[in-house]
Amino acid sequence: MKIAVFVGSIRNGRHGRTIGQWALEQLQARGDGNTYELVDLIEQDLDQLTAAVPPAMANGTYDETKTTSWSGTITSFDGFVFVTPEYNASVPGTMKNAFDLLKVEWEGKPVGFLSYGAAGGVRAVNHWRDIVANVGMLPLDAQASFSFEDHFVDFQFAPNEKTAELLEAVAAELVQVGEKATVNA
Ligand SMILES: Cc1cc2nc3c(=O)[nH]c(=O)nc-3n(C[C@H](O)[C@H](O)[C@H](O)COP(=O)(O)O)c2cc1C
Repeated sequence: MKIAVFVGSIRNGRHGRTIGQWALEQLQARGDGNTYELVDLIEQDLDQLTAAVPPAMANGTYDETKTTSWSGTITSFDGFVFVTPEYNASVPGTMKNAFDLLKVEWEGKPVGFLSYGAAGGVRAVNHWRDIVANVGMLPLDAQASFSFEDHFVDFQFAPNEKTAELLEAVAAELVQVGEKATVNA
């Protein structure tokens, strides 16, 4: 399987990239035969969703060349780890826009959550669970939520044994659900 670690925050000085990079290295170190790649939203050239045809009705064909390219990127993955902060008790708007641009590309694929924030970004994940289910993704039970108190030192991400353990639980379920989904596809 090819699995994307999708970093969804784009702020200057964001923590998302550091956490995503750490997760990528942990996942690659599993040596489980799967391919893991970083998809950093800041490196994607996307527009706001302005398409007249709602993505749910576009069936993967878009008039906008940027969306077509984004569609190709997401289609190429079999599963995802969403690296998401919590913004105002929910998901980051930029990440949600990137998500909303597509539909069939996400469908039927497993997604695990790696969240962070004052209380671990749990409220963002709660919202993500509804969002991804709406397009037919398979949200995993396991979730890795990193609070500033437990997993940051001097406001810098400071992974520890527990952090790795939480991510490993997500990875194990992701691979298991992904393999099952591939067999049933
Ligand atoms: C617009 C905005 C709203 C935020 N709202 C919350 C919030 O509701 N709960 C929380 O725990 N942290 C909140 N935070 C703090 C973020 O979780 C923290 O800044 C985190 O580092 C953001 O991720 P990033 O650095 O990758 O952008 C907010 C930050 C921003 C920029």
